[in-house]
Amino acid sequence: MKFRGRHSEVYVEGCKAVKVFKPQFKYNFWKEVRYLTILQRRGFVPKIYRYNPRDLTVEMEFVNGLKIREFVKERDFDEVVDVLKACMDICFYLDRMRVQKDEMNRPDRHIIVSDRIVFIDFERACESPKPSNVTQFLEYIRKVTDLSVEREFIYRYKRSFMIRDYNILRAMLFKPYIS
Ligand SMILES: Nc1ncnc2c1ncn2[C@@H]1O[C@H](COP(=O)(O)OP(=O)(O)OP(=O)(O)O)[C@@H](O)[C@H]1O
Ligand SMILES: [Mg+2]
Repeated sequence: MKFRGRHSEVYVEGCKAVKVFKPQFKYNFWKEVRYLTILQRRGFVPKIYRYNPRDLTVEMEFVNGLKIREFVKERDFDEVVDVLKACMDICFYLDRMRVQKDEMNRPDRHIIVSDRIVFIDFERACESPKPSNVTQFLEYIRKVTDLSVEREFIYRYKRSFMIRDYNILRAMLFKPYIS
């Protein structure tokens, strides 16, 4: 099986996915390696097995599951809300790491829901003093569920990036679905 992205081709070989970057995307290759490595211990990225700068390949765990786009379409609303909450917590973690994953407002093909939730494709990630993973993901949540939160809670969170303000934002957003 093979997936074709803009920056790479991804070959699936059993339990492995081998991402082969096009030669002009060498810098993206290094970013993917860097962020997968930094985030390895957290469990929400694929396990990285091997990488080779000579042919720009990254060998990683193939995560078998539903892309979030399908998950949102196919599953019950309660299940979807639980997954969105968990994804938003991962976005908060990335914000705290000062890592901007980018395009979290359209994560359709880059979040896989398996026995765990996995974020893939870090080739555009970068370090940022004010990352917007959570705020971009809020746009996505609004698009797929209509849940939204007053701006003041977003501003307060963006000013501090503190867990207290994050928890308030999260509670307000999911007010009807507290668990
Ligand atoms: N570790 C993985 N486990 C399962 N599927 C994967 C994995 N890595 C990549 N894929 C599949 O391959 C597709 C392309 O991967 P990826 O998005 O990383 O490539 P890309 O070249 O960066 O694409 P794009 O230009 O869309 O960003 C993904 O949408 C996904 O379907
Ligand atoms: Mg990509």
